[in-house]
Amino acid sequence: MSRLIVVSNRVTVPERPGEAPAGGLAVALSAALKEYSGFWFGWSGATTSEFSNRIQMRRINDVTVVTVDLEESDFQEYYNGFANGTLWPLFHYRIDLTAYDRSFSEGYERVNHRFAQTLAPLIEPDDLIWVHDYHLIPLGRELRLLGVTNPIGFFLHIPWPAPQILTTLPRHRKLVESLFSYDLVGFQTDEWLWAFESYVLGEAGGAWAADGRLQAFGQTLRAQAFPIGLDLEEFQELARSPVALRAFDRMAAHSVFRSLIVGVDRLDYSKGLEERLYGFEAFLEQNPELRREVLYLQVAPTSRGEVEAYQDLRGRIDALCGRINAIYADMDSAPIRYVNRGYRRDELAGIYRAASVCLVTPLRDGMNLVAKEYVAAQDPDDPGVLMLSRFAGAARQMTEAVIVNPYSREELADGLKLALSMSLAERRARYESLMAGIRRSNVKVWRDSFVDALATAHEPFLPLMDGAGEEPVLPRARISPSDVSEPSEA
Ligand code: G6P
Repeated sequence: MSRLIVVSNRVTVPERPGEAPAGGLAVALSAALKEYSGFWFGWSGATTSEFSNRIQMRRINDVTVVTVDLEESDFQEYYNGFANGTLWPLFHYRIDLTAYDRSFSEGYERVNHRFAQTLAPLIEPDDLIWVHDYHLIPLGRELRLLGVTNPIGFFLHIPWPAPQILTTLPRHRKLVESLFSYDLVGFQTDEWLWAFESYVLGEAGGAWAADGRLQAFGQTLRAQAFPIGLDLEEFQELARSPVALRAFDRMAAHSVFRSLIVGVDRLDYSKGLEERLYGFEAFLEQNPELRREVLYLQVAPTSRGEVEAYQDLRGRIDALCGRINAIYADMDSAPIRYVNRGYRRDELAGIYRAASVCLVTPLRDGMNLVAKEYVAAQDPDDPGVLMLSRFAGAARQMTEAVIVNPYSREELADGLKLALSMSLAERRARYESLMAGIRRSNVKVWRDSFVDALATAHEPFLPLMDGAGEEPVLPRARISPSDVSEPSEA
């Protein structure tokens, strides 16, 4: 079997099961790497005053990890700058928060180039290379420039924006063009895939090749949706662990005679925390009889704290929680418990199981694995209810959740009331269907389908033939390659 090289900005293999913080990328990738040989390459999390391409190699929990440090200016321009000050807000439809700063894009290009230079000598001829997320879009092109001919795939964990949003980025064409150095580009859902195709066909003058690949910039790639899933067995094992049971008992003891509502999100403006709090406030306002009956626990660890938009958000959330509690608290109870720290996944599993409702209401989200973990942690005999934003990638699969529009306070308040008053029979029916989907679309299916598609996508282009073997079949040819013209840079 080929080795698999996984590349991502952050490399966070948990030292022991259960210890990983919440977050889809780390958990899904360490599960994938346990079954393949190979290694996980990325940033160590440390910064140095001067660039060095010295690598650190460690073995953590059966996964080989190879890391490099970032120079301080790279960290500012690449991580805080282009990745989290430009691409993150842009790809989450927040052009109001997007920094269009040229030095950021230079830092981004520089780090991708350095990553490629450090990684290229470690690659063997049969390796499959799988690059993850928005930090590393140009890495494939940089590796190709260094002569790497292996199959290279890219998976985007966050949304891909509509062309009208993407084109606000200066040099958007260059960014998209660099994706064409990959053999395979994967997205979480069809919605993000269609937005990408729409850019390539409408903005970059691309076309469908005869075998369904996309053609543009004189190159081809295969683009496909691969919805990420859970390692269900691993998570359910965590949910049965002593740590989880203790967390469950603690939460149950603290919400006696009250229904626990939980939210677990990085403190990020894409998660819709403010809108959620306004929705919760509307619920309290409209349902005086339920004010003492609920406790809303919001876990929101600080994230990307050096980026201004995140600092501003923190201030606003602190103020909002304080205001709502001041209005609706009584001498012996307060409706919101807001916790600005993260918990281990096994503790979270216990908290999820104790919660009657989970609020996953991002304004835009690639997938959102908290939604899946909440359902997986439920007691099948008495499951809680998932309330899910229609703008999370997960909503395309988890249609039996209570689906809401997070921009509407009324819809959030009504959804919460519906969730809290749902009959046991309906909760069970919804839980069963949601679990069937989680079982079907698990992390192994995600990994194997991506890796299989990557190996195939790298094969030389052969036009498909129909049954008679005479005419090439053009499965998705909407524009013929001869129609392609190269528009000038926007
Ligand atoms: C999202 C991104 C990941 C990222 C994670 C945590 O899930 O898709 O790539 O690692 O957030 O963000 P951070 O900036 O702390 O790595």
